[in-house]
Order: sequence, then C-alpha cells, then structure tokens
Amino acid sequence: MAAKEPFFHRGEAFIQDKIGVKAQMAHFAPRVITPELPEQHQRFYEQLAYLFVGHVDEQGNPWVSILYSQPGFIKATSCQQLNISADTTLGDPLSRSLKKGAHIGILGIDLASRRRNRLSGKINKLAAGSFDVTVDQAFGNCSKYIQSRSMRFTHNKALVPRVDSFTQLDIKTQQFIASADTFFVASHNLKGSKEKNEGVDVSHRGGVPGFIHVKDNTLTIPDYSGNQHFNTLGNFIEQPKAGLLFIDFNTHSVLMVTGSVNIIWNVENAERFLNAQRLWGFTLEKGMWLHNVLPMSWSFKSYSPFNKVLQESRNTNKDSVEKNYPKSARVHFTQSDIQEEWKDSKGTLLEFAENKGLTPKFGCRQGACGLCKVKLKSGKVRYDAQPNMALEEDDILICCAKPASTSVEVIL
Ligand code: FES
Repeated sequence: MAAKEPFFHRGEAFIQDKIGVKAQMAHFAPRVITPELPEQHQRFYEQLAYLFVGHVDEQGNPWVSILYSQPGFIKATSCQQLNISADTTLGDPLSRSLKKGAHIGILGIDLASRRRNRLSGKINKLAAGSFDVTVDQAFGNCSKYIQSRSMRFTHNKALVPRVDSFTQLDIKTQQFIASADTFFVASHNLKGSKEKNEGVDVSHRGGVPGFIHVKDNTLTIPDYSGNQHFNTLGNFIEQPKAGLLFIDFNTHSVLMVTGSVNIIWNVENAERFLNAQRLWGFTLEKGMWLHNVLPMSWSFKSYSPFNKVLQESRNTNKDSVEKNYPKSARVHFTQSDIQEEWKDSKGTLLEFAENKGLTPKFGCRQGACGLCKVKLKSGKVRYDAQPNMALEEDDILICCAKPASTSVEVIL
C-alpha cells in the first residue's frame, strides 16, 4: 500500500496498467484512500474484539498475526493514530516485529457484519502490552467473499497453548487448508530505501471451501474481482513473498505460514478456478501451528452472497447449458464504438470495458450504489447475484452484469 500520494506504488500501478484500469484508479483513489481515519473508521476500530496485523520479520518474511481483547482494546487517540493494547500469543513472531518505526498493516474486520477497514502505518510508540500506530493510508473495503461468523470469548483454563513449527505441510494441514473458506494474507514492498510509498499490507481472502488448491508445500489461490487497488498482488511484484494466517474456527488454534509467491496471469484453461481473474502460487518456507491460543469460539452464520456466485460458477458449464447462458458474446460499447469478443473469464461488463480502455463511473462494484448504471441498447444481461435496487427495464449495472445473449449493445 502506498503512502499518501502517489496513491499506488510501482507494483500496484504495474498491474492496474496491465489490466487497463490505471487511469480510473488514479482518479478514484483520492476519494477512498486517506492519510487519516475518518470518524466512522475510528469508532469502528474501537468496537472490535480482534484485529489482524501484517508485519515483516528480520529476514524480510511477511506474517499475519491476530490480536484480540475486549472491545476498547483499540483506541483512536487521534485521526492519525491508533493505540492497541493486547498481548501477543505464545510463539507469535509479532512479538519480535514490534519495533519503533516498523511498518505494519492493519485489518480491522468484523466477520459477523462483514465490515472491514484497512490501513498501513508505522509503529511510533511501544510500551509493555501496547503500541501506537501512525496511519500512512487508510481505506474501507467492500464485504466481498467474507463468510459471516460471530465470535464470543470462551476462556477455558484447561486449554494448554502449544507451538508446533514446521517446514513441510503435513497431510492434516494440507487438508485443513484445502477445506478453508477464509484466510488472511500479508505482503510488503519494503526495500529499506525509505521511499515514502513503502509499506505492509494485510488483507482478507475468502471463497467456497476448496477454493485453495493444495499440493504438497504449494498452494494455488484464485484472485477474484476486487477493488482494483492490487495492494497484495502489487506487493508481490515488488517482493514475491506472503504470510498467511488461517483460523481453525472449530478449535482455538491458528495456522501461520510464510513463503514465496508467484502470479499466474493466464487463467484461460484453469477450469477449477472459475471466476478467477488471476491465480497466485504460494510455496511454504516455514510455518507454525499455534494450538489452543485463541480464547474464543466462532459460530458460522452464512456464506458471503458473493460465494454463492462462486459456488454457482463452479457449475458454470452445467448452468450455462441449462440456462442457455453464452460463455462468449459480441459486446458493442456504442458511444465509444468498441466491439470486442467477451468471454466468461473476462468478468463483468465493467471489468471488460475497463480492459478495453474505457473509464466508466463506478462506486461500490457490487451492485449497491447505482453509480455504474448505463442503458442496454440490445441483447440481454444477467447478474450472478441480483442487485438489490429497482432498475428501469433497459438499465443495467455493469459492475455485476454479464452478457446473457450472444450479442449485446451497451450505451457506453
Ligand atoms: S458500482 Fe455500485 S452498483 Fe455498480
């Protein structure tokens, strides 16, 4: 994540440029990325009972850690500073990363409501059991792919914390990852050059259980349509490393791994990763199970509505035949007179238009704000998840519309 202006660093800008969204992201960024926490973000952090921290160890390995305590353990002492009072868990490398001046990434997320906020910043003060973070950049995030879970503290004195370190994923851990629907990823672009846009990022990833493919020590992970910031993948361009954290929601344990990454751009033939726009590979270098460290229990509430989209897309071939949805279509953007072949792998009409160099208006990118509304001149479109908004018959929300006929004319 870049600091202030420029809003995006070289790796992030590289990917935005590669997929044709650099211009609109430069235009959009000042509206969503701020050097301070707006009032509502400050209050949001203060009501959280857990927090994810992205950090980097002395060898340059990123890690994600979870901190927790009763709500109020995070205090916004100003619009640019958070004070966090929590002890690190046994074995957590965060205890060694907390140093004055260290870059960290913070993800405030309430899994129950699917609300989240992210920031990158630096530690500016350390005390026993607490530290202060000064914000470089903060922004809200949409709720996409977040499975809703409620949490309650369940102090169980019988639980004995234990750390198991490893350099190979055993079968049990492979199966655990392969069945996960949620994890957290840390990445960074630190080079020690003290460039003003160096930083650490931590982000949420979710999908249908099985969305991560595991083979021995290597994971293959789909990159779904998101906010087009490319904080994580942009960092991978600069520093091809990632730290991942998985919560075992059925026990009190946490899996932390760190390793190298590579981006896989071509997903044309990656059928098991339908709807992925890119993939990334993760190869383990080292990891640890922190057993019995979280004094909390989780209750699953519901999968993300966007997971439903992913789930349905797993059956795309079957559904496309049953519902007669075309897997390719001729799309004509009439005002700009661009005509191109669309394929299912090209995503929504907004993503397709951006790929063709157009800069349509957008806001939420999830069918909630109406900013991307345009007129359909001919043809039909479909929505994987029906937008929750009244639309005129010829209005479409291109952020979530895909062609449903072999030829579509959009007034854009
Ligand atoms: S961008 Fe908000 S509805 Fe499309």
